[in-house]
Amino acid sequence: MSANATASTGSSAAIPVRDIHFDLSASPMLWHGGSAGVTGFYDALSACFPLGEAFFIRSVKRGAAEIDDPALNAAVRGFVGQESVHSREHRAYNKRLSDAGYDVAAMERAQAKTIKWIEEDLGDDAALGITACMEHMTSVLAGQITYDEAYLRDADPAMRELWVWHAMEEAEHGAVAFDVLAAKRPGYFYRVGLMLLSTWMLFEIILRNYGLIARTDRAPRALREMLSYLFWSPGFLRRVFFPYLSWYRPGFHPFQSAAHERAAAHRAHYDALTRKTA
Ligand SMILES: [Fe+2]
Ligand SMILES: [Fe+2]
Repeated sequence: MSANATASTGSSAAIPVRDIHFDLSASPMLWHGGSAGVTGFYDALSACFPLGEAFFIRSVKRGAAEIDDPALNAAVRGFVGQESVHSREHRAYNKRLSDAGYDVAAMERAQAKTIKWIEEDLGDDAALGITACMEHMTSVLAGQITYDEAYLRDADPAMRELWVWHAMEEAEHGAVAFDVLAAKRPGYFYRVGLMLLSTWMLFEIILRNYGLIARTDRAPRALREMLSYLFWSPGFLRRVFFPYLSWYRPGFHPFQSAAHERAAAHRAHYDALTRKTA
């Protein structure tokens, strides 16, 4: 890829950093309607955020260092700020998991190896490209959570507050890594190849994390609950399939999806919460 001084940007909208603390101390461990399987899915996702988001931040910062575009540079600062607060809150979330006996350290050890392989063997451009792919996938998941309350209707209120906040901000900054990548003019097949690799890596990380949770205390019934939630009702993964595929369209840009518009409906609530907890 060639480095380029300017970017074609969709990331010009302000990306505010909302420094919010979520108090999960009263939340039950099986916080999603008492379902071990559905809770396990979200917990597996939470476990990969701190290392994953730190990797995203490093990748985007390195990529943006070569770009001279004030709007995109401001968006990158917003992206870094939002992901930093997400990591902080999910570290607290994950501490609950390790305190309860789940092997979060093993999950992170395995994930750290994957990240090391990307950064040391594949290099900076691939790390940025993989970040943009992961951000696309989190953004399409976020588009569902922020749009349809069915996903978290049965959730403990504090957990719901945290997940909708994270989803909203993922949709809000969903174009930043893509725009930094686009400034380097990646070829179509490079972009597609990295998405195939990233999809496989994300599934591997989530499945491994869920496996470590399941090994600790999940009955086989939990897996059925999780698969039903993901593929049948409400059908989380089934319903993100087409938005996910949009990446493979030539000329794709994240802001062509509805995710960031859906997220806007929650902004006033979290802006007010930011002021209250500041
Ligand atoms: Fe995040
Ligand atoms: Fe993100």
